[in-house]
Amino acid sequence: DIVTFMVAGHDTSAYTLSWILYELSANLDVQSKLRKDLELHGPDSKYLGYVIQEGMRLWPVAAQGSIRQLQHDVELEDGKIIPRGETCLVPFFAIFRSAWIDRADEFIPERWSEEGSQRKKLEEAVFPFSVGSRNCVGQRLASMQIRKILHQLILRYEFVLGKRP
Ligand code: HEM
Repeated sequence: DIVTFMVAGHDTSAYTLSWILYELSANLDVQSKLRKDLELHGPDSKYLGYVIQEGMRLWPVAAQGSIRQLQHDVELEDGKIIPRGETCLVPFFAIFRSAWIDRADEFIPERWSEEGSQRKKLEEAVFPFSVGSRNCVGQRLASMQIRKILHQLILRYEFVLGKRP
C-alpha cells in the first residue's frame, strides 16, 4: 500500500504542477490575472481554482484514463449495446478535449467560472481524479498541495518559456 501511495501520489501532482506552469508561461495574460487575484484573495482565490481545473482538463496525468468492468449492459446513443462484464477504457485525454467543448485545445480558465456557458457540462465531463468508488483516494491532498504550491510560486516568480539553444 505504501508503494502504491508513493507511485500514485508523486509524479501525478508534480506533472500536474509542471503542466499548469507551462500553460501559465505560454499564456502570460492568464498568469498576471492569476497573480493579481492571488494578491487580493490568497490561496483561496477562485481564479486559481479555474486555472487548476483547466490545466487538469488539458493535461490529465492519468491521460489514458480508468479501466472498468461493466456491472450492467450499457446502451449507446446509436442503439449498440455493450454487454455486462466487458472491460471498458475511459480515455480521459480524448474525453476532456471533446469536440463539443469550445476551443477545446486552448487554455481558457474562464470557462470554469459561474459565467462560463459550458461550466455545468464541463463539471460532469471532466474528472481527472476519476469517479466512483475506486476514484483517487489522494485527490484532496493533491488539490491542496497544488493550490498552496502554485500560490507561493506565482507570487514570488514570473514564469516564461525558455528559448531552445
Ligand atoms: C494531481 C494529482 C493526482 C491525479 C490526477 C490522480 C489521479 C488518479 C486517478 C485517475 C485514479 C484512478 C485510477 C483508476 O481508475 O484505476 C487514482 C487512483 C489513486 N490515487 Fe491518485 N491522483 C493524484 C494524486 C494522488 C495522491 C497525492 C495520492 C496519494 C498520496 C494518490 C493515491 C491514489 C491511490 C492510492 C489510488 C488507487 C485508489 C483505488 O484503487 O482505490 N493520488 N488517482
